[in-house]
Amino acid sequence: MFIKQATVSAPVNIACIKYWGKRNESLILPTNSSLSVTLSQDHLCSTTTSRTCAEYEENLLWLNGKEVKIDNDKRLSTCLQAMKKQRERYEADRPNEPKVSQWKVHICSENNFPTAAGLASSASGFAALAYSLANLYDLPLSDPADISDLSLNARQGSGSACRSLFGGFVEWQMGRDDLHGSDSCALQVADHAFWPEIHALVCIVSDDKKGTSSTAGMQRTVETSALFQHRIQHVEEQLEDIKQAILKKDFDTFAKITMRDSNQFHAVALDTDPPIFYLNDVSRAIIAVVTEYNRVSNAEGGKRKAAYTFDAGPNAVIYAPAESMKEIIGMIIQFFPQSEPFKDPFLNDVIEGSLVPGFN
Ligand code: ADP
Ligand code: DP6
Ligand code: CO
Repeated sequence: MFIKQATVSAPVNIACIKYWGKRNESLILPTNSSLSVTLSQDHLCSTTTSRTCAEYEENLLWLNGKEVKIDNDKRLSTCLQAMKKQRERYEADRPNEPKVSQWKVHICSENNFPTAAGLASSASGFAALAYSLANLYDLPLSDPADISDLSLNARQGSGSACRSLFGGFVEWQMGRDDLHGSDSCALQVADHAFWPEIHALVCIVSDDKKGTSSTAGMQRTVETSALFQHRIQHVEEQLEDIKQAILKKDFDTFAKITMRDSNQFHAVALDTDPPIFYLNDVSRAIIAVVTEYNRVSNAEGGKRKAAYTFDAGPNAVIYAPAESMKEIIGMIIQFFPQSEPFKDPFLNDVIEGSLVPGFN
């Protein structure tokens, strides 16, 4: 039995300018462009193996060991069909290659962190899926333009996934092609080596599955929130400003915009009817600690030294220059004494630890 197989790991990304809202649900076209930082895959990643074989009878995925029929899942099947189409084009030019595009696939994926808990598992998950299929099908991946092309397919699995295909600072341009979404893709703003001093601390407040999925939450926001209409008119300016801050390595402005956008996103979630609460008391305590830390830094004549951001869940990500990280971790452990285990932040961009309420 001839089996072709490819295994890849993909990291999560955490947005500084959030994607929240679709203008086209089925193509996954966003109502605004967004910008994120891709975290090191040493800690949070999805690892996906794709296999194909003439004898397979069904397209199947095992996600964290649980079987899913790909053909019954619109996002998985859209992503797979888009990849198969590209393989068909490859085969059309190479008549001697096996027609693996016609074979079924078996895919096995594991997340090494909580799934659907607001830590961007759909981003690393669909990025790993698209990338492993691109490898399986021998598609070109060496050029940034190839990755941007691939991001169109990952996007149709989960919007935020398109940004996880690049490292460093990544923009997802909303695009103008409303018919096919051919220009709603990810582009790298700067790679990780451009500004390696920035590290990220992931504070896992809760690994419970969130009550309202990102997909359902943003759909409800688009339908009901007036504040959301205000947001989408102004968010592109914020994106331009943060891009400039990144290119100038201006952490103070980067931090200001990141925190403001996180707060605005959660305000929009609250303005949704019925309201969506993604933050909890521990999340708010982390906001208070970081705010106080920045206030003291400013009083000392310095600038902001840390930026919190929260996706659709209570877990915090704190961006900060590596030189401040030790101090920040010390502070977090002081206020949230049960939080451990923390990994050595020295060599990594991301540190994960558990946080248990302890701030009251
Ligand atoms: P999160 O905040 O973790 O991104 P979402 O609600 O956006 O939560 O998405 C969670 C969904 O993403 C899962 O229910 C599953 O359908 C999909 N997903 C997560 N991980 C993977 C993976 N490794 N491979 C394929 N799909 C995945
Ligand atoms: C708050 O990409 O998970 O994390 O496209 O419906 O799968 P779907 O949603 P998803 O939404 C992510 C929302 C966010 C912000 C962000 O990552 O930009
Ligand atoms: Co998600």
